[in-house]
Amino acid sequence: MLLYEGKAKQIYSTDSENEFVVYYKDDATAFNGEKKAEISSKGILNNKISTIMFEMLHENQIETHFIKSLSEREMLVKKVEILPLEVIIRNITAGSFCKRFGIEEGIVLDEPIFEICYKNDDYGDPMLNSDQAVAMKLATRDELAFLREQTLKINELMKAFFLKMNLKLVDFKLEFGKDVNGNIILADEISPDTCRLWDVDTNEKLDKDRFRRDLGDLVQGYEEVLARMNCK
Ligand code: TMP
Repeated sequence: MLLYEGKAKQIYSTDSENEFVVYYKDDATAFNGEKKAEISSKGILNNKISTIMFEMLHENQIETHFIKSLSEREMLVKKVEILPLEVIIRNITAGSFCKRFGIEEGIVLDEPIFEICYKNDDYGDPMLNSDQAVAMKLATRDELAFLREQTLKINELMKAFFLKMNLKLVDFKLEFGKDVNGNIILADEISPDTCRLWDVDTNEKLDKDRFRRDLGDLVQGYEEVLARMNCK
């Protein structure tokens, strides 16, 4: 049974009470859904890429919702209740950070920046600080500290992983959820929809900015990321 439909994925219940199926769609959106397109095979690529990323993190003792891949577009995951927060790490300036603060794209930051946003499309996923998140009861202080620590750890693992593929991890967004035991684990997806990835030598953008900013064929970029993952 379909439980939830987001912009890029659907979540289905299963016969097992503690497991969901995630189905990756071909829909692409940007600017809070203002720009839309259906991009044939995007869902397949994101399911494959997310599977590789969750497996890599699992091998490095990061708990995630991923259980196993089921088909080209589907993965079996642990049931979680998603925290209404989007957690962002930036290693290199890009995107909304440049736009908001008038900063040039491509500056390598001395330290990663950790940001949180309120996951709410009606308000355009606004950035908020930890006091605001705690006041709104989106997470406790301890949970926010855990999210920061865990996300920084994941950043180190992902940065090293992508560097082996000659890719720079510019920034990315994660979502976490609470499992049936109340533990906070990594959920959602990790794909070029949710990470900015640039070629180390040319700075060619191989992520969703190709769609957001009309920088080239999206599928070609995602296929390049997957091909580099498969031959690393
Ligand atoms: P931003 O620069 O637009 O704030 O995006 C930061 C990172 O978060 C970037 O890697 C893209 C990702 N992201 C999402 O996954 N979903 C979103 O809705 C947005 C706005 C960004």
